[in-house]
Amino acid sequence: MPERWAQGIFMKKILLTGVAGFIGWKTCEFLLKSGAEVVGLDNLNSYYDVRLKEHRLGLLEKFPGFRFRRIDIEDLGALADLFSADRFEAVINLRPGPGSDTAWKTLLFT
Ligand SMILES: NC(=O)c1ccc[n+]([C@@H]2O[C@H](COP(=O)([O-])OP(=O)(O)OC[C@H]3O[C@@H](n4cnc5c(N)ncnc54)[C@H](O)[C@@H]3O)[C@@H](O)[C@H]2O)c1
Repeated sequence: MPERWAQGIFMKKILLTGVAGFIGWKTCEFLLKSGAEVVGLDNLNSYYDVRLKEHRLGLLEKFPGFRFRRIDIEDLGALADLFSADRFEAVINLRPGPGSDTAWKTLLFT
């Protein structure tokens, strides 16, 4: 069972970008079920129906270890605030697009 397999392996506090997306919300659910605390970041863009993303967030918000922040990953000020407020043991970047490499470097050097 994946949740049991994950016990004790994952870090406790994780930042996950693209949390309302197809891959992001399932990854987040898996981490929450394994006992991690997850801050999920997403700008809720309208690339496809936002109601689907809001539905996913509603499911994740049932977990006490979940917090959502509506932030665009390219907003460096908001990211700096995020990293000042929390100390993350891992960052999982599932924000898609041709700028993903740049965004990942942005996260690493913020
Ligand atoms: N879906 C697949 O089958 C698949 C397969 C292999 C790899 N991937 C990769 O996984 C990643 C996620 O894919 P997905 O299918 O979950 O995409 P998705 O579009 O469903 O989810 C991406 C999420 O990122 C958010 N986002 C986009 N730009 C943002 C920004 N600037 N700031 C904050 N949030 C932003 C969107 O609102 C969305 O909720 C991508 O890098 C994709 O290439 C996906």
